[in-house]
Amino acid sequence: MENIKKTAEFLKKRLKEEPEIALILGSGLGSIAELIEDKTIIDYDQIPGFPVSKVEGHKNRFVAGRLSGKKVIAMQGRFHFYEGYSMQQIAMPLRVFKILGVESLLVTNAAGGLNPNFEVGDLMIIRDHINGMGTNPLIGPNLDEIGTRFPPMTGAYNCQELIKECAEKTSVPVVSGTYIALTGPCYETPAEQRMYRMFADAVGMSTVPEVITAVHAGYKNIAGISLITNVHTGTAHFIPNHEEVVEAATKAKPKFQKLVMSVIENM
Ligand code: HPA
Repeated sequence: MENIKKTAEFLKKRLKEEPEIALILGSGLGSIAELIEDKTIIDYDQIPGFPVSKVEGHKNRFVAGRLSGKKVIAMQGRFHFYEGYSMQQIAMPLRVFKILGVESLLVTNAAGGLNPNFEVGDLMIIRDHINGMGTNPLIGPNLDEIGTRFPPMTGAYNCQELIKECAEKTSVPVVSGTYIALTGPCYETPAEQRMYRMFADAVGMSTVPEVITAVHAGYKNIAGISLITNVHTGTAHFIPNHEEVVEAATKAKPKFQKLVMSVIENM
């Protein structure tokens, strides 16, 4: 808790204004932070005691400023469990944002499609999630100052309708579905693909710890969007790779940006 408060103090001194919306940008989706106006950029490694992410396709910094007229703070580069960060470290930024006064979270990720109707480049509104990581950011002594011991997760993604409306307004096609998070970093075997598609529409290696943390911390609005960067067939014919994921994210950037800007504006 002390570390969280210290980081919040550090950021407060650097930021021009209190952010209202936090934006977490997934693999290959970080460029939306370039659209933020009147930017304050703070590299993670400038922040005492703050973790640094090293995944390709991720910068490692906060970009705060105005996006669609709203006061935002974006994470260009998030912390993944597979990098060796603890769940506590992954949870930390969300808790810091809450102390800074943030009430809304828009979380994005690159994900593998499990639903056979999905296509590469689809944008999926996250309807619900499955925590398949085998651990939880809330394990350990409860931070009573932040939230309660046993937070319900029903209705976590409470901005689905809003995203749908924004998608219609901006003529960006969307699908919706359940996201399952696994630890990674390996991709799923065909047998795993067939198993997980019984429960979920998309699979990834992030987002769930952040959303659990945000619900615990009492965020009022949570929106999740997955970019489907590859589609699993459940057979051995298709072999996913990271370059493909980043390439698909790059291609889908224009429509993704359009949707994100609209969601931010209306959140
Ligand atoms: N599996 C897990 N995570 C991912 C995938 C995938 O196929 N694609 C992008 N992130």
